[in-house]
Amino acid sequence: MLRTSPRSYGGDGQRSHGTTTQAIIEDVSAIARLDAAEPGACDPVDLADLVTGELADRHPSTKQIEVDLQQGNVVMGDWLRLCRLLTNLVNNAERHADSVITITVRRAPGGQGDPRFAAGAAILEVLDDGPGIPLDECERVFQRFARLRDAQEKDPGGTGLGLAIARQIAEMSGGTLTIEDSPRGARFVLRLPVARLDPHERRVRSGPMSASASGMPPTSG
Ligand SMILES: Nc1ncnc2c1ncn2[C@@H]1O[C@H](COP(=O)(O)OP(=O)(O)OP(=O)(O)O)[C@@H](O)[C@H]1O
Ligand SMILES: [Mg+2]
Repeated sequence: MLRTSPRSYGGDGQRSHGTTTQAIIEDVSAIARLDAAEPGACDPVDLADLVTGELADRHPSTKQIEVDLQQGNVVMGDWLRLCRLLTNLVNNAERHADSVITITVRRAPGGQGDPRFAAGAAILEVLDDGPGIPLDECERVFQRFARLRDAQEKDPGGTGLGLAIARQIAEMSGGTLTIEDSPRGARFVLRLPVARLDPHERRVRSGPMSASASGMPPTSG
């Protein structure tokens, strides 16, 4: 596992009151585009590269971010949309973590029941060491504008759309986004079907394409 000092990778994950209106507009327009089922790009994306790119782009943080990234977990998707999903999860983790966030990329073998993952699942987890989410709220937090009291106290500027957008992107990418058991804090698990790649024909993306091609500006959530 690679550890980073708290200021190596960043992102304050907070929205000031002044940016609330802009944040709402950005999030609502992102949802409108997703609701319109605008097809995103369909490129091979290595989830480890996605995490590395996201962390390199973030502002300095007071939280320590640890990563354990298995290379070669390639999915078919839209780099910018998947970036947005990840940004939303990491922003939340930064808001709620006590001190440490752990991001993991790994593979689960296929043939475990869910036909979406018959060929295997590429898994991206974002875990924090904060207070976590009560079991009976684990679905509600994915609803649009749902915010638990704790979050409202920590940052009144949030829109409550970040997780709704993240789940919608996960599902449009053929996968799932869930909250799963963890000894401490919140553990968000993204599962996407692994790409069936012909190595001679397809090149894996290691960076974003143009925002216009994706229809999804890479903003925080
Ligand atoms: N890592 C986490 N730990 C504890 N609670 C969380 C975590 N992530 C999300 N939540 C809860 O889920 C709610 C919904 O999250 P969501 O990202 O949709 O909205 P938000 O973070 O409040 O606002 P925004 O994303 O617009 O800044 C949060 O308000 C918070 O109550
Ligand atoms: Mg959020």
